[in-house]
Amino acid sequence: MQKKLHEMARIASDEIKHASALEELKQIQVRYLGKKGEMTAILRTIAGLPSAERPAAGSLANRLRDELTASLSAREEELKRETHRRLAESSRVDVTLPGRKTGLGHLHPLTLVLEEMADIFLGLGFTIAEGPEIESDYYNFEALNIPKEHPARDMQDSFYITADVLLRTHTSPVQVRTMEKMAPQVPVRIVAPGKVYRRDDDATHSPMFHQVEGLVIDRSISLANLKGTLLLFARQMFGREQQVRLRPSFFPFTEPSAEVDIACVICSGRGCRVCKDSGWIEILGAGMVHPRVLEMSGYDPEECSGFAFGMGVERIAMLKYGVDDLRLFFANDMRLLQQFR
Ligand code: PHE
Repeated sequence: MQKKLHEMARIASDEIKHASALEELKQIQVRYLGKKGEMTAILRTIAGLPSAERPAAGSLANRLRDELTASLSAREEELKRETHRRLAESSRVDVTLPGRKTGLGHLHPLTLVLEEMADIFLGLGFTIAEGPEIESDYYNFEALNIPKEHPARDMQDSFYITADVLLRTHTSPVQVRTMEKMAPQVPVRIVAPGKVYRRDDDATHSPMFHQVEGLVIDRSISLANLKGTLLLFARQMFGREQQVRLRPSFFPFTEPSAEVDIACVICSGRGCRVCKDSGWIEILGAGMVHPRVLEMSGYDPEECSGFAFGMGVERIAMLKYGVDDLRLFFANDMRLLQQFR
């Protein structure tokens, strides 16, 4: 019996030592000391032992039971302390740690280019004008000398809302709106940045894109003023050595009209893939304001003249930053955008 007691006490104290949770400890206590526990069962049998053996067995059993009880509560304390320590550690705040930085937002590359373009013209004495993106047929076409049967009105190219309301296909209607407001005052010197819409979608065309329109009207404005202004712009935008070239072209609202090229910014005019070996890249359309357009908006073509131009902001941004697909500007890919921080 004494051997059995010792053996049981040894196993029990081993279990207590290895118990890793309070519940586990509770189970051990029940298993040995509970009403139906092993120790309890042995203690009960002591009464039936021969009287000579009873005192020794009794005191051993009591001693082992007390020892068991003591080591149970010691381990319980230990486990509680451990739990506290772990909790304290996990919720500890180190007030000396540096703060976490929140990422600051920044401007979209197109906004940057747009602002840079506007700044250049502001520096030349222009002011900013704006007009609606939902435009009437009159301002988008009619007042710009684009007759009803002109191909630019084709349903293929424009987003119509009703028969005579559409999303503006260029910023040129702002020319008309400005002249109507100002006439017959001179000088007029405005740039009009904004969104325009066309039914186009590929690597160099997007259904929505940005233009900056320019308009100057005064008593003796000539093509030389147009070229000088654009050369100045190109040199501020692309570098002091930049060259521009005017090529004869056609727009219903300017006469004469020109397409304006800059020397290729990739190869400096030597010829490469981007400029298709021509050494030049087209960046805008321009010309002298058509007498009929001046007249329709309240200016006397005998008294004053003007020039106008319209350029694509995406195109300029692509050239400036070496971006070869216009759609990248609208894909919201952080890997591209974050390079403009
Ligand atoms: N509006 C023309 C276009 O979008 C550009 C332009 C503007 C041409 C002003 C001449 C004068 O293509």
